[in-house]
Amino acid sequence: MSGRTRVFSGVQPTGTLHLGNYLGAIKQWVAHQDERENIFCVVDLHALTVPEVIDPAVLRAKSRETVAIYLAAGIDPEKSLLFIQSHVREHSELAWILNCVSPLGWLERMTQFKAKAERRGTVGTGLLTYPTLMAADILLYDTQVVPVGEDQKQHLEFTRDLALRFNNMFGDTFVVPEVSIPKAGARVMGLDDATVKMSKSIAVDRPHHAISLLDTPKKMKKSIMKAQTDSGCEYRPDHAEPGVRNLMGILSAINGEPTSSIGERYAGQGYGYLKKEVAEAVVEELRPFQEEYHRLMSDEAYLDRLLAESTAKVRAIAETTMTRVRAAVGID
Ligand code: TYM
Repeated sequence: MSGRTRVFSGVQPTGTLHLGNYLGAIKQWVAHQDERENIFCVVDLHALTVPEVIDPAVLRAKSRETVAIYLAAGIDPEKSLLFIQSHVREHSELAWILNCVSPLGWLERMTQFKAKAERRGTVGTGLLTYPTLMAADILLYDTQVVPVGEDQKQHLEFTRDLALRFNNMFGDTFVVPEVSIPKAGARVMGLDDATVKMSKSIAVDRPHHAISLLDTPKKMKKSIMKAQTDSGCEYRPDHAEPGVRNLMGILSAINGEPTSSIGERYAGQGYGYLKKEVAEAVVEELRPFQEEYHRLMSDEAYLDRLLAESTAKVRAIAETTMTRVRAAVGID
């Protein structure tokens, strides 16, 4: 390692990434990229936990698109390694070993598992063991810091507990990672219903629930202007409803202004003014990103070369860790 803090994080290539993925995760990866040693992954194996909605051709295309999204958002391949999870087989191998030491009760307690399992009738076992694959992603690279949105906090606690448990059982093998959650943008809520987290799955049949990173400026503005606020027609700092707080949180995550100061500026004013500022900030933030994304998607050879180079470097790190892990458990 270089002496700099090693960072690992990832996004699932299910659907098109939204403003929550960008503000909660990718924007903070970019913000600290220069001072850290970074590994960013497109977690396509995790996407298989919803096999009924995954079309193989779509998954393949979305995985590539997600690599282009990382780059367009400012991930610099000179400073960060970028790869697709399934291209490094050690993730699956380590996940199996970790499954064997993960207490079932720990997995059954995960709130994301419970919520997803409740929404669907039958679920695959992969949904239950999703956190052990996530732990494998992180532990494989001796990761010190994992920058994620707030919804991943419990999965990170699980990863830490599992690393400690494994180290106790087999001797010091894994680095125990820390979670990093941003101050603003850690939990972007739905624009059409600010009591639920902005999510790719809800956005499928509710067009104004989320801002997709690839929406047209017109669509972005429309979704924000239609966003839920409250029954009054002007902002009062003493009673900010979730929808209003959400809009202020989005603005704060983009321009760095504390929400208290945004609140003071809008006291006594109609919500339309706040929405207009938020819409403009979002469109301007994503304009250069979208231009770069389309340029990258038209350069297949560049993406292929970059992925091949990065994946070779990542594999070397994964192989070193696995040599240690196999020896620790006796399968070397
Ligand atoms: P995914 O694809 O569900 O989310 C990717 C990242 O986006 C963040 N996020 C949000 N942040 C703020 N507001 C929201 N509404 C919102 N929705 C999503 C998530 O917190 C996450 O940081 N399980 C991970 C993927 C993963 C991973 C890993 C992450 C697999 N292995 C190893 C870190 C390290 C996930 O949530 O994907």
